[in-house]
Parts: sequence; structure tokens; C-alpha cells
Amino acid sequence: MATTGFDIRRTGGRIGAEILGVDLARDLDSAVVSEINAALLDHKALFFRGQTLDDAAQLRFASLFGQLTTAHPTVPSAEGKPHVLPVDGEEGIRANHWHTDVTFVRTPPKATTLRSLVVPPYGGNTLIANAGSAYRDLPEPLRALADRLWAVHTNDHDYAEPRNAKAAEHRGQSVSRTYRTAHPVVRVHPETGERGLFIGGFAQRLIGLGADESRDLLRILQGYVTRPENVVRWHWAPGDLVLFDNRITQHYAPDDYGDLPRLLHRVTVAGDAPVGVDGNHSRVVEGDEAEHYTPAAAA
Ligand code: SIN
Repeated sequence: MATTGFDIRRTGGRIGAEILGVDLARDLDSAVVSEINAALLDHKALFFRGQTLDDAAQLRFASLFGQLTTAHPTVPSAEGKPHVLPVDGEEGIRANHWHTDVTFVRTPPKATTLRSLVVPPYGGNTLIANAGSAYRDLPEPLRALADRLWAVHTNDHDYAEPRNAKAAEHRGQSVSRTYRTAHPVVRVHPETGERGLFIGGFAQRLIGLGADESRDLLRILQGYVTRPENVVRWHWAPGDLVLFDNRITQHYAPDDYGDLPRLLHRVTVAGDAPVGVDGNHSRVVEGDEAEHYTPAAAA
């Protein structure tokens, strides 16, 4: 499709598009930024190949979509760069669980940018799933149930055993402060009104249900998110920039590259408090508003 200055080539059948003919290192005029935002709402994950961004340029690009969060509520940023989270395989950071970024706080990021600095020669892809089409795939009785459910999301849960000492240290940082937040299982997207399943790895318990029922129901719902039809896989090359809508996607980074180096830099755009089908907003259950992390906490 022709646009104001770039082309959009769909990647997956239900999610993802590559944006061609835009150099993100240049100043982008507001019409182009609006087009990119429209493409993001439409395709949910955008891929920009062969860019030449450094950290400053990644920060500048991410800022076009709103105020930035700091790197993470509990994990340290890149040295001297408070908004940049290094996703470093050698530091034991392997995001091989389906999740939406930072849903354990009340106002999770609106959007995530990931930029590849070092890419293994094989493996190390990122999978991104469309939580909106997953919701629409639900049989009507399950959809009606999901519409009424709320889940508690937390960073403090029984993660898999850390693979080495660095991974154990990272795990310790991740849970150094506990957050628990109640979010609707079905989130109404604040810009499009689209409904999507808002669950993923931090969703640990359904409100009003026991541990076993919560686990079983979340597993069933999550199975719709991760159906191959709803997933796009990105094969990284150095310099790529990926932008995804964190309000209606989940992602997963397969841990399939052994000890080969892999390094991405992540910068996230602050989001608002999710709203459910009933019109209610997410609320803190334990912890705080994470003001040190997100300016949206004040909203
Ligand atoms: C993340 O979950 O933020 C990182 C994803 C990746 O490593 O591809």
C-alpha cells in the first residue's frame, strides 16, 4: 500500500508489517509519524529493517509516540541511560515466556521498541502475538466469560530455574520489589476500541477463583493468544527496529541460541491504566504506582 512516503508490507496473516522506505535516524515529519501510528494500530507490530540508530536516536523515535518510561521498575538500565533496558542474552536475560511488557504495574507501557545490536547467526528470533484476534477466536460462551474476568498480575511468581549465576542475579533484581495489579482479562484498546485478551505470563490468578481454576482457565485463554495463526516471527538482523503495541500483543523470545551473544536495547512508551468491558480501570493490589518507572502513574 502506498502512503505519504513509505510502503507497508504485511508480514503475518493477522499481525505484523514491515515498513519500507523510511530512515528512522532522520527527523520524521508529523504526517509520517501519524502514518506510522496508524500502521501500528492496524498491524500491531511494525518492523523496520536495516536502520542506523544509536541509543539517542532510538529514544528520539520512541518519544514520538509519547512520554517514555524509565528502563524497568526493578531491573537496572544501561549505564548512564535511564530509559534504555539492555536485553542481553549473555546476562541471562531470556524472555522465553509469553508476556506483555510490565503488566504487573497499573499503567504498563503503551508501546515497546526493540533495537538489535548483536544478533546470533541462527535462532534468537522474537515472536509477537495478536491478542485482539485471539479474543475474536474465542467461542462465544468463553468470550462472555472472559469479558467478566479480572486477573492479578505480579512480577513475583514461580519463574523457571535460572540457567546460570547471571540469570539468578537478574531474577533477584526482577523480584526485588513486589507488584501485584488487578487488570481486566479483556482490555478495551484506548485508541481503537478493539477488545483483546490482556493476560500473559505475569497474570497469575483470576479474581474470585482458586489457584487450580485460575491456572486452567488462563491456560485455555492463553492457548488462543499463542495459536500460530495469531503469531508473527521476526528474524533479526543487526540494526533492525521493532515497534509493537503493548496494549494488545504478547511476545516471546525463544531461548534457542545457546551461549551465542544476543543484545537488544529496549525503550518503552508510557501507557494508561487498562479499562475493561465493564468500564472499570485497573487497580494496584500490592506495591505502589511505580512513579519512578512511568509518568503515566499519575493519570
Ligand atoms: C522483551 O521481552 O522485552 C525482550 C524480547 C526479546 O528478547 O526478543
